[in-house]
Amino acid sequence: MMPSASKSIAISSSTALFLIVIVLPSSIFLSPVVVAAAAASSNSTADPTPTPWPHQFHSILFMNYTGSLQLIDLWYDWPKGRNFNIIQDQLGKLLYDLEWNNGTSFFYTLDSSKECRTAQLEVGILRPNWLDGANYLGQQHVDGFLCNVWEKVDFIWYYEDVVTKRPVHWLFYTGRAAHVMTFEVGAVLEDEKWQAPAYCFENAPSPKAKHDSVIGFQERLMDGVLTGSMSLPM
Ligand SMILES: *[C@@H]1O[C@H](CO)[C@@H](O)[C@H](O)[C@H]1NC(C)=O
Ligand SMILES: *[C@@H]1O[C@H](CO)[C@@H](O)[C@H](O)[C@H]1NC(C)=O
Ligand SMILES: *[C@@H]1O[C@H](CO)[C@@H](O)[C@H](O)[C@H]1NC(C)=O
Repeated sequence: MMPSASKSIAISSSTALFLIVIVLPSSIFLSPVVVAAAAASSNSTADPTPTPWPHQFHSILFMNYTGSLQLIDLWYDWPKGRNFNIIQDQLGKLLYDLEWNNGTSFFYTLDSSKECRTAQLEVGILRPNWLDGANYLGQQHVDGFLCNVWEKVDFIWYYEDVVTKRPVHWLFYTGRAAHVMTFEVGAVLEDEKWQAPAYCFENAPSPKAKHDSVIGFQERLMDGVLTGSMSLPM
């Protein structure tokens, strides 16, 4: 069984998937720039590899999912085994998505609605090298930056600035898109902020889900920062 968070995403994205899956990824494959670059690099040992994530950083992400816009404050903290997405829906809810490396995630609001949901995943937060093994697709201009492009398990397309090696953009097979607005390497959020509110501890977490590693990886991506799409099923 998938935890309800993933299930609700899977259901809500299934119609979009039908419309978009084929269109967006194939538009990447058909891009003349990408195809030309990929064809030129027949020596695969020369292919660039994605830069691992810094062990601690803060990033502001502008998200667009078929016109639904969000700003996400992402605090990635690998040494302390935690990852935080603070998600502002446009003119809407402010949602906190706090993930621990032991697989526990908390999704909550801090307003009077006092909503909270927890999930227990088989996998921890994304590792700094989570992009290892991605397929190199060549170079493409995105958001005005010349980027190296990779694809991982037909699930995510990842764009990294050729010069600075910073992430610029990523795109899910569902069509959900992230644009990286700031990328502060070494920035750390104070410990006090990493505390789920008391009302998160009133109900036990949902039962542990069993998954193979690829499913676990995808589930973590879907559950976490890279989507920033959580809606609380209340
Ligand atoms: C690939 O390219 C690199 C650098 O251009 C070269 O050193 C290496 O011998 C090439 N490998 C193959 C298998 O052609
Ligand atoms: C969001 O994405 C849609 C396509 O899904 C596009 O038409 C729209 O212009 C985008 N909006 C912004 C603000 O980028
Ligand atoms: C995981 O760690 C968090 C933070 O320390 C804690 O609140 C949560 O209960 C832990 N989950 C498990 C299953 O131990």
